Amino acid sequence: MTPQFGVALRGTGSALPTRVVPNQEFTDVLGLDTSDEWIRTRTGIRERRFAGPGDTSATLGTAAARAALASAGLTAADLDLIVCATVTPDLMCPATAALIQAGLGTRPIPAFDLSAACSGFLYALSVGAQFIYTGAARHALLVGADVLSRTLDFTDRNSCILFGDGAGAVVLSAAPPADNSIRALRLYCDGSRQELIQVPSKVTPTPPPGTSLPRLDHIRISGREVFRFAVTRMVELIERAEHDVCELGLPGVDVLIPHQVNQRIIDAALESTGFPRDKVMVNLDRYGNTSAASVPIALDEALRTGRCKRGDTVLLVAFGGGLTWSSALVTL
Ligand code: UT7
Repeated sequence: MTPQFGVALRGTGSALPTRVVPNQEFTDVLGLDTSDEWIRTRTGIRERRFAGPGDTSATLGTAAARAALASAGLTAADLDLIVCATVTPDLMCPATAALIQAGLGTRPIPAFDLSAACSGFLYALSVGAQFIYTGAARHALLVGADVLSRTLDFTDRNSCILFGDGAGAVVLSAAPPADNSIRALRLYCDGSRQELIQVPSKVTPTPPPGTSLPRLDHIRISGREVFRFAVTRMVELIERAEHDVCELGLPGVDVLIPHQVNQRIIDAALESTGFPRDKVMVNLDRYGNTSAASVPIALDEALRTGRCKRGDTVLLVAFGGGLTWSSALVTL
């Protein structure tokens, strides 16, 4: 089916908690057996933001949404859809998107969450684009928001040093089909590897007595396995996107915006693909891994700081719990 409409990426926004947590805090305050040097050299992270008492996925998501609407030159009244990607919803019910909808004060419009961990924002981008392609929405707000600090085990040095909190948002608008800016979208999930990253909730079942399954009280990751998975998938997604770019006759990828997880994962993928280092947007040194918020925060920052500009073709790449992996090739 030929889409009736094209999709334009019209505005971006982001919101971060004010509390800055430098690496030193894990040793000096929490007494963890780690060091600033280990965290910096093994991950690239120097500091991250942690939610303050009043910050939630919904409050940060609403602030990011307001910024995205302002950058799009639209108001809440223009919106036809809100999708929020999160694995740390304020409540099991209602959806964080409903809280954002109330915070913005839109008309009654479809608003729902989706859960695809660090790939969540690209899943949301895909859903928003489908609503616009079919004419079901003219303006769609897509939010990635997470406060993983609330799930961390501060005695587990393998995981607690990696994550930060925040939210990013994008407004997509209908455009003439010839001006469609989303060139390619790829979404994948392999649930058979679900145990490699898990975030519990109140309804997570307790393993029956006598089984070898560990009790899930906090986020749990198998860092080494996730590292290998992330590099393999990132290489694959970059190679496929370069193929897409050639097929579409585009000048090339101007900026790569990867999920901000670990500098060594990004470096390994760049080395394997030969993708130029100076075309990569990185801000994980300041924010750590913000899960579903990572890609839209980096995109917003890249646009605001002139790292990329209107007319550029950007490749967004993400991977995470599920396991999920995803990419979007977008001309801004
Ligand atoms: O968005 C998806 C979620 N993200 C992830 O799942 C993260 C992906 N993985 C990673 O980023 C990396 O695997 C880590 C940063 C988690 C770990 O780095 P690594 O180079 O893969 O280390 P490793 O797991 O191979 O561990 C090497 C050593 C171990 O000690 P032993 O067993 O060799 O004595 C760990 O116990 O480093 C130790 N270690 C630490 N030492 C100091 C692990 N974490 C720390 C720490 N400080 N924070």
